[in-house]
Amino acid sequence: MTTNTGHAGSDYLIVIGGSSSNVLASKVARELGSEAGRLEIRRFPDGEKYMRVLEEVKDENVVVIQSIHHTPDELLFEYLLLVDTLKDLGARKVVSFIPYFAYARQDERFHPGEALSFKTVTKLMEGVGTDEIYTIDMHQHRVLKSSEVFKIPSHNLSAMPLLADYVRKAGKLQNPLVIGPDAEAEQWAKIAAERLESDYDVFEKKRLGDERVEVRPRKASAKGRDVLIVDDIISTGGTIVEALRIILSQGARRVEVACTHPILASGALAKIQEAGARNVIGTDTVPSPISYVSVAPLIADEIRKCRL
Ligand code: R5P
Repeated sequence: MTTNTGHAGSDYLIVIGGSSSNVLASKVARELGSEAGRLEIRRFPDGEKYMRVLEEVKDENVVVIQSIHHTPDELLFEYLLLVDTLKDLGARKVVSFIPYFAYARQDERFHPGEALSFKTVTKLMEGVGTDEIYTIDMHQHRVLKSSEVFKIPSHNLSAMPLLADYVRKAGKLQNPLVIGPDAEAEQWAKIAAERLESDYDVFEKKRLGDERVEVRPRKASAKGRDVLIVDDIISTGGTIVEALRIILSQGARRVEVACTHPILASGALAKIQEAGARNVIGTDTVPSPISYVSVAPLIADEIRKCRL
């Protein structure tokens, strides 16, 4: 299926979602007034993956959408097969949207001999011929810009305006305060605070293990206020639970939680709800029971803007 986006360079493009993002790809195609491209993916009896592109892609621009989460190695390999196949079939340009980008947190050799997984993944993506890459709220802690790792054009979008708008529309927060649970979350706290016309603060976080963190408040007090905690990822929920504990002990009136990527490993959602969060919301970069906000309009807008 082709999507007429009225671009300057080429009139048509094909939006294709891998198996982790086929629903999202359909939503994006719908936003652009069309249907997602078809793909056949199955397994051979020995466990190997079979893939077939069911669209004519020769000389076409193709947008690939594939989140890499939960089974990252499998979904990454699927992505590599897909892009390599598209290029081999003569696609003119392949622009990829990786809404959740696994391995971005292993961007440094923390202990001698460790794999620099982030770098390896980017090399593989470039190696199969990805022409341009878009991520959404990619974990950028030590690496501050994706262009520090990618040699191809790369862009990091943010879902935080969509999340903040959802919270704003869902119910009026009284005397709102936005909190980022660590220094890195300041970028998202700032955006959400602007949308909610509130102030914001960030906590100081020390990671004690894969699931354990220590969080300390800084200036702002949550006493009597409606608080929105924002973060990029909820994985085990350890970070949010710690932040909630402090905010509630300060006497917050109610606490809402928003994240871009609801990975929700290790019973994270139940832990956060038990810790006292009133609502927990996320986007569909990672399909989950709290993916109330779709990033489809964000991706579709970007596709409209980019000149393929
Ligand atoms: C880390 O810096 C990230 O921004 C998140 O705060 C972190 O990934 C959340 O992980 P968890 O839910 O396991 O505490």
